[in-house]
Amino acid sequence: MNKHGFFMCVEGLDGCGKTTQTKILVKELKKMGYEAIYTAEPSHGKIGRFIKRYCLHGGKRVSSIVEALLFAADRYEHVENEVVPALKMGKIVVSDRYVYSSLAYQGAAGLSLDWIRKINQHALTPDLAIYIDVEPEIVVKRLKPKKSVMENLETQRKVREVYMHFVESGELVRVNGNKPIEEVAKEILSIVLSRLKEIKIREA
Ligand code: TMP
Repeated sequence: MNKHGFFMCVEGLDGCGKTTQTKILVKELKKMGYEAIYTAEPSHGKIGRFIKRYCLHGGKRVSSIVEALLFAADRYEHVENEVVPALKMGKIVVSDRYVYSSLAYQGAAGLSLDWIRKINQHALTPDLAIYIDVEPEIVVKRLKPKKSVMENLETQRKVREVYMHFVESGELVRVNGNKPIEEVAKEILSIVLSRLKEIKIREA
């Protein structure tokens, strides 16, 4: 367990319901008496805000290498300033996206996974990483992209491929995100509770 607390992340394609599910999870954990907090990447720190402004909503294409470096820098600050202090207080920290987003998105853009890992080597290893799996065809329809549907679909497929690689290696736990919201939420909560139990038994 990370520094007395529990650190986990929720990953998935844009439009998979990740933010909704992360928020539901934090709410449910709080109801059960756990001290849980919601956090996200890109963070609301200086670098995170810069990313949102210039890379995500700036309308200008930024090189994948620059993107990967910025996300890694934002991640380091996010961990140092938000995640570690909360873990030290024994909290459960749930991050809406983490290092697997860089591996999946910047990896799908053609960067080496080894290099992405390297520039993220100082990022804390999560106790649990969940992947909400929704078909690329479905998220593309939900997002109604302004650009070519095919181009977007192609990108989403590549991103999913990288995520699935980590599901197969056992680093990510896959949850079927095509089910109704309540069912997905129930499944995620049950995975989290059993991981928490596992860690408690290991530490006892
Ligand atoms: P969001 O919509 O979940 O806030 O994510 C914003 C976008 O940033 C999303 O398209 C995924 C992308 N992203 C990366 O490409 N690499 C990363 O490391 C992170 C954290 C997000």
